[in-house]
Amino acid sequence: MGLTIAIDGPAASGKGTIGRALAAHFGLGYLDTGLLYRAVGRRMLDGEDPIEAAQSLRAEDLEADGLRGPEAAQAASKVAAIPEVRAALVDFQRAFAAREGGAVLDGRDIGTVICPEAPVKIFVTADAEVRAERRLRDLVAGGHAVTLDEVLEDIRARDARDAGRSDAPMRAAEDAVRLDTTRIGIDEAVAAAVALVERAGA
Ligand code: DC
Repeated sequence: MGLTIAIDGPAASGKGTIGRALAAHFGLGYLDTGLLYRAVGRRMLDGEDPIEAAQSLRAEDLEADGLRGPEAAQAASKVAAIPEVRAALVDFQRAFAAREGGAVLDGRDIGTVICPEAPVKIFVTADAEVRAERRLRDLVAGGHAVTLDEVLEDIRARDARDAGRSDAPMRAAEDAVRLDTTRIGIDEAVAAAVALVERAGA
């Protein structure tokens, strides 16, 4: 089996950018697990039962319009607190993690629940204000009309809900290495993550 890298952390911490860069650097597959919850959240906003949506989720749902926006993000955080929704998404994530060429997965519970045996676990953090500024830039670039205050509020609400739920709450695994990106640029963060993986002997 190939190398599995588990990356967790709060919204807009930089975990997606780091995950994609590690996957490219080491030639691994990459799965943004937040997209699964966003796709279920999207279907809930369209009137579907979230448990049924999770149980019947298809690959093409991950390409639906608007998954990157703030509405889908809040809906994702809400459906992610439902244990039956989480349970329905486990097999897909574990199968991806076990793919022959190895994989990087990013989310909230990868190191703790989905891939507790992953040899490399990174918990990416950054101050909420800095995360809000980064997310604002991405959202505005993507054509969303939002303000910094709205983005900060969205991030704080999601942090609290994602860390406070009883099933698979967002937290660092005991053996995860913390990477705080508050004061470093993305290149430096990626370089630090690559060094971590190399030090782990991967
Ligand atoms: O990573 P993201 O911001 O796209 O995730 C959207 C929401 O999905 C997040 O607020 C919580 C939920 N999520 C989760 O509970 N577990 C994961 N592994 C990934 C995302």
